[in-house]
Formats: sequence, C-alpha cells, structure tokens
Amino acid sequence: MALTLQKTVEIAPGVHMPQLGFGVYASPTSICERSVKHALLHAGFRHIDSALYYENEPQVGTAIKASGIPRDQIFVTTKILAPPANDPSGEKLWDLLNEAVRRFGLDYVDLFLIHTPTSGPEARLKMWKALEMLKKSGKTRAIGVSNFGVKHLEELAAASSTKPAVNQIELHPWCQQKDIVNYCKKNGITVEAYCPLTRGTKFDDPTLTELVYSTLKDPAQILLRWSLQKGFVPLPKSDTPFRIDADADLFDFELTDAQMALLDGLDRGAKGAIDNNPVNAP
Ligand SMILES: NC(=O)c1ccc[n+]([C@@H]2O[C@H](COP(=O)([O-])OP(=O)(O)OC[C@H]3O[C@@H](n4cnc5c(N)ncnc54)[C@H](OP(=O)(O)O)[C@@H]3O)[C@@H](O)[C@H]2O)c1
Repeated sequence: MALTLQKTVEIAPGVHMPQLGFGVYASPTSICERSVKHALLHAGFRHIDSALYYENEPQVGTAIKASGIPRDQIFVTTKILAPPANDPSGEKLWDLLNEAVRRFGLDYVDLFLIHTPTSGPEARLKMWKALEMLKKSGKTRAIGVSNFGVKHLEELAAASSTKPAVNQIELHPWCQQKDIVNYCKKNGITVEAYCPLTRGTKFDDPTLTELVYSTLKDPAQILLRWSLQKGFVPLPKSDTPFRIDADADLFDFELTDAQMALLDGLDRGAKGAIDNNPVNAP
C-alpha cells in the first residue's frame, strides 16, 4: 500500500492509527496548544503522542477541540511511568489512570502505554492489569508499552493473554534495536519510533548529508521517510511551524533501495541511542 499522510496501521482489531504521528515531548505549555493546532490544521497530522510526564495534555486536548476536527478522526496517545507505591488495593492507580485521561479534557484516549519498564516485574504487571481494566471501561481503545526490551515483552506474554498493541522505542538509523523490532514483527506488535530525528544530533552525518544532496530533501524528511519505509510509526516533534509542515511533507519522494541500505548501514546498536533507552531495565 502506498505511503500517504492518511495511511493507517491497524494496531488492534478495529483500531487504526495514522502511521505518521506528532510528538509533544518537551513542548512547553505556553506553545504546545499552538503547535498541535498547526500540526492538525496546517500540516495535516491526525495522531498526537503525549504522556503524563510531558504535562501538556490540557494543551493537547484544547487544541484538538479548537481544531473542529471530529474527535474520532484524531488519534491520541498517552503514557504513564509507574504505579504509585504502597497501593495494595490498586485504588490510587485506578484514579491516576482515569486522571491521566481526564487531563486532556477528552472522553477517552486511543492508546495508553506503560512509559518504561523501569518499575520492575511486579509493578509492570500490576500496571498492565490496570490498563486492561481501563480498556474495558472504554477510557482507552488500545493499550501498549514503551521502551520494552524482548525480555519485558516475553514476561508480559507469559503473564497475560492481552498482547500490547504497540511498543514505542527509540528508533533511527543509528539505533535500530533489531532484536526488539524482529520480536515485535513476529508477534504482530506495531513498532513506534521515538526520537526519529535524533533530536537533530546527527543532521551533519556525512552519509545523511550525501542523501540531502541526492534527494534535495532536508535531513529530517530523509530520516522520517526511512522510518515510514521501514514500516515504523515515527513521531517527530517540533514547535516551529515551518518544520511541523516539513515533517508531514514526505509523500512526493521515495528513498531507493540503495539509499535505504546506506541508512541501514549506520546502526551503532546501543551506542547509537541518544535518549536513556531503558530497554535493558531489570
Ligand atoms: N516513549 C518514550 O520514552 C519517548 C522518549 C522520547 C520521545 N518520545 C516521543 O517521541 C517524540 C519525538 O522525540 P523527541 O521529541 O525526543 O525528538 P525528535 O523528534 O527526534 O527531535 C525533535 C527535535 O528536532 C527538531 N526538529 C523537528 N523537525 C525538524 C526539522 N524538520 N528540521 C530540523 N529540526 C527539526 C525540533 O526542534 P523545534 O521543536 O525547535 O522545531 C526538536 O528539537 C516525542 O515528542 C515524544 O512524543 C517518547
């Protein structure tokens, strides 16, 4: 199927996620609403990736409502880090999950993720069970994980019959996390790519620069195109209007197999990660 801005991936039965998303990590509350509105109304994004940790869900929700775009045409993700300690009844956790949705001012989110595996095996499972309940309650349409390594995914598969719809991990040519990607592919888990632009840290890489000259596209567009052609769901972030537009303007060119191979050859494994990438947490 041809890549378009409208292309979606079915992450769970009947749940279709646009393959290109817009990230809002570190988007300040004073700017976030404007950026999301621009992403929706000017650039054409229909998928916003947020988190409790980002503390800008109210701004995301306000932008969605102000856009006038029907709620069911916009895909919204949130994430939560760890369950509250000393909460054997799970009551605080339940309240926190509901509050995480309420913070958007929306009736539901489309996807709710465990943000990292760092809370340990017991807390991970507790969180997963609570998310299963949240899905049943209709407050989220799908549930998934983030920063999970193969070990964490296997542990979850052994403990629950509910498969995570997605695993959101750091993913770009310098950090390809092939073991995790292969596990997800084999098990029907959609892979979302965070830091798809390497936060700009690799824009002067000589191989990427070579591709800038041969495609006449900017480094960000080449990295996003690589991600889409790999079948990932990239989540670029920007608070700059012309960059927001550029990050959605990816569908009038295609990287050739040879150009994809050049980028494939840049993998540096764990050393290539720019975030703290907690996929090896115990
Ligand atoms: N699950 C997790 O643990 C996790 C971790 C990290 C990120 N994420 C998600 O993934 C999203 C993306 O990751 P990220 O924000 O860390 O990094 P990123 O998208 O790789 O890079 C964002 C940076 O690139 C710049 N930029 C954007 N478009 C550009 C363009 N066309 N040309 C030049 N520079 C451009 C932005 O600058 P300006 O804003 O100044 O334009 C910003 O500084 C996050 O927002 C978040 O939703 C998830």
